Amino acid sequence: MDGGDKNIWLIANWKSNKTIAEALDWVSKVGPKVPKRDDLKVVVCPTFSCLSEVKKAVQVGNFPIMVGSQDLSPFEVGAYTGEEAASLLKGLVLISILGHSERRQNFSESDEMVAKKVEQALQNGIIPLVCVQGPDTPVPDGCKLVAYEPVFAIGTGNPDIPENANNVAKVLKEKHGPPAGGLEVLYGGSVTSENIKNFINMPNLCGSLIGNASLDAEEFIKIVGECSKL
Ligand code: 13P
Repeated sequence: MDGGDKNIWLIANWKSNKTIAEALDWVSKVGPKVPKRDDLKVVVCPTFSCLSEVKKAVQVGNFPIMVGSQDLSPFEVGAYTGEEAASLLKGLVLISILGHSERRQNFSESDEMVAKKVEQALQNGIIPLVCVQGPDTPVPDGCKLVAYEPVFAIGTGNPDIPENANNVAKVLKEKHGPPAGGLEVLYGGSVTSENIKNFINMPNLCGSLIGNASLDAEEFIKIVGECSKL
């Protein structure tokens, strides 16, 4: 593999899709096809309404899949109607996607809000996966996993050029990489089974955050298959 030993993160972001039945069908199809490999980190991020059922199905099947959320509250538990506090989620999820551009655009989420969410995640042992839209998006302290997701590439069928994504990842690592351990940077935006290899072969990229192509079990299995060959 180019870039030496590295993890490959394949993170399915289902966004606001799938009933519980559809989610369980996906887990039953994808779960048995994910190879058990320490460096292959497959994560599924369902809606909040599906989280506990998906988590149970993954556990019962003993599948090497982690479960994540697509967001969490910037506040502790309390009078925050509609919010999901990190301390309530931590039994269900290992990772949380934070600062996705769809939240920034549709829910006016600010960099300050993202920073508060990261703090909540870290306090509760949840790995924050912060989405950045370019090299200048702030990355809050303590964040070691970032997804570069240029807005023009999301859901458009028009992915960024892998070399460009690699360059952005390099800048992000130079700017934000903690002295020990390093920053892991993923790419997201119109990734499919056809183009995934071009991204994960880039030395500064170690996986992908996948929207549309993650919804279809067969397509996601193909993506996992492409990465398993490396
Ligand atoms: P698409 O893969 O549908 O372009 O979405 C990317 C994304 O936003 C993942 O978080």
